[in-house]
Amino acid sequence: MGDSPDTTQSSGAGAGGDRASGRARHVAIIMDGNGRWAKKRALPRALGHQRGVEAVRRLVRGLEPMELDCLTLYAFSSENWKRSETEVDDLMNLMRKFIKSDLREFIENDVQLNIIGDWRSLAPDIVAMLEDALAQTANGKRKLAVALNYGAQNEIARAAARAAENGEITPDSISANLDTAGLPPLDLLIRTSGEIRLSNFLLWQAAYAEMLFVDTLWPDFKPEHLERALDDFAQRERRYGGR
Ligand code: IPE
Ligand code: IPE
Ligand code: MG
Repeated sequence: MGDSPDTTQSSGAGAGGDRASGRARHVAIIMDGNGRWAKKRALPRALGHQRGVEAVRRLVRGLEPMELDCLTLYAFSSENWKRSETEVDDLMNLMRKFIKSDLREFIENDVQLNIIGDWRSLAPDIVAMLEDALAQTANGKRKLAVALNYGAQNEIARAAARAAENGEITPDSISANLDTAGLPPLDLLIRTSGEIRLSNFLLWQAAYAEMLFVDTLWPDFKPEHLERALDDFAQRERRYGGR
């Protein structure tokens, strides 16, 4: 670390990597573009979401050689409830199907599932499935965090309220109460589909994360795209406000 600075945000902002970025430990992805992928092919949006799930599966299967400690995926935002009832239902059903079909593989591949966001207010059967999946993967070594019914402003407000209950509100006490508290500091945040915004994702954690916006629509995203992103990350110089 040498002259690597900021120790004030140990679990939040600046403690992520060395000055020369090197290996990323924690990458987060805003998986965007399912709808446009479908539209380009005159297919229903639901099919775009289905292909999006396949992209997730493909990526998780291809993760091992990348030696990440944690991959965080934005799957459903607290604002996504604004979509039509049919689309929300489709997304929830895909989630049910995905947990059922892929949990065994997670366990076999040493994946530890984490969930961030207000997921306990999802449908009771989904909450029960997720609780079971969390328990069954608790000993996994490689963290996969899924953001479900997630909104960063809500996460920060909840964290601040908990911090206040237990003492002082400080950057460290907020960090320690975020949903991501058990995850490594965020190194790299990727958004697919060409949109250049954060859409209420990891606002606190991204304080000193590197960002990468790619045009690829999420269903087309392959492990090679992540490998390329990690190479790009390794070339960056993180300065954390230092010289
Ligand atoms: C991302 O794809 C999936 C979710 C937000 C659940 P979109 O559905 O947002 O796709 P676009 O942005 O309409 O193309
Ligand atoms: C962000 O994408 C949420 C997820 C990828 C789950 P959106 O498609 O919801 O974001 P906006 O509406 O374009 O900002
Ligand atoms: Mg979108």
